[in-house]
Amino acid sequence: MDKYGRKINYLRISITDRCNYRCRYCMPEDGVCKKEHQDILRFEDIIKVVSHGAAMGISKIRLTGGEPLIRKGVVDLVRQIKSIDGIKEVAMTTNGSLLPRFAKELKEAGLDRVNVSLDSLNADKFKDITRGADLKEVLDGIKLCQDLGMSPIKINVVLIGGFNDDEIVDFVSLTKDQDIDVRFIELMPIGEASQWSKGHFIPNTKVLEMVPELNEVEAQDISSPAKYYKLDGAKGTVGLINPISCTFCSNCNRIRLTSDGKLKPCLHSDDEIDLKDYIENNNLDQAIQASIETKPKEHHINDEEFKPIKRNMNQVGG
Ligand code: GTP
Ligand code: 5AD
Ligand code: SF4
Repeated sequence: MDKYGRKINYLRISITDRCNYRCRYCMPEDGVCKKEHQDILRFEDIIKVVSHGAAMGISKIRLTGGEPLIRKGVVDLVRQIKSIDGIKEVAMTTNGSLLPRFAKELKEAGLDRVNVSLDSLNADKFKDITRGADLKEVLDGIKLCQDLGMSPIKINVVLIGGFNDDEIVDFVSLTKDQDIDVRFIELMPIGEASQWSKGHFIPNTKVLEMVPELNEVEAQDISSPAKYYKLDGAKGTVGLINPISCTFCSNCNRIRLTSDGKLKPCLHSDDEIDLKDYIENNNLDQAIQASIETKPKEHHINDEEFKPIKRNMNQVGG
């Protein structure tokens, strides 16, 4: 429990800050400097963090990046995490490109579900926003996960004014006959996107304006950042993640671990605890406790004096 009475049971782990895509709002065009091996948390250390966390009440793990599937050995990491006592769910947020190659093995290793980032359904626009990627590999990856029965599959669409707001109807239409959860995310001023002009930041209310037939439905998980909607008779749902226009901090249940071994109590704060010494001294409980104690009540993105965090999104994992 943190000091505001929130139960922290969800740990998001960024296992690499590298990515095979270069999404314009997330990664610098030239990519990121390759970190030295000793600066990246080893899998055995990640397992230690998860084991201590699980003993203290963490039950849900999400692997993120960068792109988590480019780190060698990720399937085995999933298997090990899933076997830790107390861990009920292991999920992943991925750009989907490597799912055609790994989905089957990941499922066998115990991965419960995937959230796939996908900002355009048009191959040329997709290539543009990712600076060069192929839409087909992502769609193939999603299809394979559906065939494998991973459920629910969530698609994360970062809504970008002047780029994909003309595709809202197409994205919502995917939910008509597929059991899929399409979630629109308001663009947050982090890293690359923190320099973008105001016109790109549009509120998610635009989705409801474009598709007034959407009816609000109850969220399955109250600590999910999304509010849920549905078209009449649709198989899937539409989620709105509104980190800017409204805050879900009062239900926040998460902390984050960066690939260089820093524990972050909040996405929008620069507060971090370096785990290196705690791992060596085998007192990770103290670090986890301290991180949860410093978790802020809420973010302040909307304050005039708000300063974006120093890390890029690819170093935090969303
Ligand atoms: P579920 O377990 O499926 O609910 O996933 P999730 O929404 O926790 O994870 P995902 O990685 O798919 O994140 C979706 C979007 O929500 C991303 O843009 C994240 O940056 C954003 N997000 C996730 N957690 C937080 C949070 O604690 N604060 C804020 N402001 N945004 C968050
Ligand atoms: N604002 C909102 N969402 C973002 N993501 C990455 N950068 C941003 C941003 N600036 C999303 C990715 C991915 C998730 C982890 O975070 O598209 O789906
Ligand atoms: Fe939690 Fe911070 Fe995100 Fe708010 S901004 S939901 S407190 S991590």
